Amino acid sequence: MPASLHGVDLAVWRSASGRLSAWKDRCPHRGMRLSHGFVRGETLSCIYHGWVYGTDGGCNRIPAHPDLVPPAAIKAETFACMETHGVIWIGTADAKGDVPDLDGMQGLRSMTFACHADDLVRALPEFDATRAGVLRGETAVAGHPAKICLLLQDGGQARTIVHAMCAAGDDGIAVSRWLEGLRRQTEEGMAA
Ligand code: FES
Repeated sequence: MPASLHGVDLAVWRSASGRLSAWKDRCPHRGMRLSHGFVRGETLSCIYHGWVYGTDGGCNRIPAHPDLVPPAAIKAETFACMETHGVIWIGTADAKGDVPDLDGMQGLRSMTFACHADDLVRALPEFDATRAGVLRGETAVAGHPAKICLLLQDGGQARTIVHAMCAAGDDGIAVSRWLEGLRRQTEEGMAA
């Protein structure tokens, strides 16, 4: 899957055994996007010339030179990553590695809002915004209280990617509609 973090294009992939990897979306050979590649077992192969990379990012095989042991220097650029509660966290070099406590929450959907994260904080004054990039609170959704957590990612160009979570057992479809309404309301507020 292609992804983006702080303007860096990434290829995020999961091996057959379930191991998660996040790499710069650039093949060390000729720069093809690795997110166009394909997973076979514990490897990711580039779609262009078929170079094969292991989960550590190292090149295992160059099909045009089957007898060659690829030099260790041929390596995809890797990022630290982990997964909790259905959310994948990817760390840049300066990441501290602490993630919010999301116990009892489950991933719902991700959506791009044409606004800054601060606009969302202002639109939800009843939500707790004490931790940067995390908005959490309880609000009425379709007549019922719902616990919601919004993880805010800078999408560049005045956009925010919102990764929405709701409490396990809550009505995800209703929360999803609430989120769409929030986007409409926030973007209309920006346009006004
Ligand atoms: S560009 Fe990836 S194998 Fe050539």
